[in-house]
Amino acid sequence: MSVGIDYQSGFANEFATEAIAGVLPVGQNSPQRVAHGLYAEQLSGTAFTAPRHANRRSWLYRIRPAAVHQPFAPLAHATFHNRFDEAPATPNQLRWDPLPMPTAPTDFVDGLVTIAGNGGAAEQAGVGIHVYAANRSMAGRFFYDADGELLIVPQQGRLRLATELGVLEIEPQEIAVIPRGVRFRVELPDGAARGYVCENFGAQLRLPELGPIGSNCLANARDFLTPLAAYEDVEGAFELVAKFQGALWLARIGHSPLDVVAWHGNYAPYKYDLRRFNTIGSISVDHPDPSIFTVLTSTSDTPGTANMDFAIFPPRWLVAQHTFRPPWFHRNVASEFMGLIAGVYDAKAEGFVPGGASLHNCMSGHGPDAATFEKASNADISKPDVIGGTMAFMFETRKVIRPTRQALDSPQLQQDYYKCWQGIAKHFAP
Ligand SMILES: [Fe+2]
Repeated sequence: MSVGIDYQSGFANEFATEAIAGVLPVGQNSPQRVAHGLYAEQLSGTAFTAPRHANRRSWLYRIRPAAVHQPFAPLAHATFHNRFDEAPATPNQLRWDPLPMPTAPTDFVDGLVTIAGNGGAAEQAGVGIHVYAANRSMAGRFFYDADGELLIVPQQGRLRLATELGVLEIEPQEIAVIPRGVRFRVELPDGAARGYVCENFGAQLRLPELGPIGSNCLANARDFLTPLAAYEDVEGAFELVAKFQGALWLARIGHSPLDVVAWHGNYAPYKYDLRRFNTIGSISVDHPDPSIFTVLTSTSDTPGTANMDFAIFPPRWLVAQHTFRPPWFHRNVASEFMGLIAGVYDAKAEGFVPGGASLHNCMSGHGPDAATFEKASNADISKPDVIGGTMAFMFETRKVIRPTRQALDSPQLQQDYYKCWQGIAKHFAP
């Protein structure tokens, strides 16, 4: 839980917040003179004419407009990119151990490593899937991603996200979403930090429809927290790093761009505590599809077929009778990238550890390993089971997830993952 920071509650609300009282204009967005000599600037996250329910924009009242910086020049980064065509997409089941913590000084941007992805910024669809391992706060530099919004999933260490629109603090089992274009700095209160990032090139994440579930449950809107305005009035020799069309760019900037004194609107960063997710499940027989675990969804142009769904597998009771309780064997048209934040995932006996990852692509068979199958087939299901102390997640996409060359060549790739199914016995007895 965050301490000492206040937030506004709700999902994509028409928020209003000011660090100095009386800054927000009343009755219009850009008066001839803003209070205290501030500049008015609109930040649009959707097309101007997007339908009202999907339209996102905020008005920022800031010390200097975002335009004030030196020209950008390309910035090399060895491991963070959107090159998803370097290696053949593979139907093999893949699994990785966690990234080791760096030994050299490494901040959040330095520490990003691209594992896989699909689509790209140019087509405004797909995702980049990255992991990060860092050991120092960003100092004197700021970052924004023009290619997509960033869904940040910490696995180890807290993050303090100082953004243009205010400060978010998150710890493992919380997530944050930084909208496309919003400038921010990542500080590491615990020193070492590791986690996952989904860079969403498609439609902005939103809460899924609930259908027959009704008006409550899964992730509830009031549990999403957006920061209050907080500004820095600081001058110095700083760097502004932009991610633009798959590559990084660097510009010199003579002041902190986190200089927004007040803002209003519905385009803003937010955080959510995954432990507040209200899990739904079967109380008779069989499993509902894992779509019941969807926290946020990025819709595509095809109704019901997401660009990306962010789903979690939190602690929960298993009570279904006459049912194989762990996730069953399956093949899906969607592609599934999974990570583990804490504890043990119930479909695997070993090998999938916190900070690790797995990838099961379109129509690649997967499911419980041999040990889990035997255990669950012989379990006493006259009583409920409780799955406690765990938090796994999935980035599930409609497009095949293409691993990067560096991910396929990395020493963390488990060469023997396929063996977890080789011990599955033939039980057939006609
Ligand atoms: Fe799966």
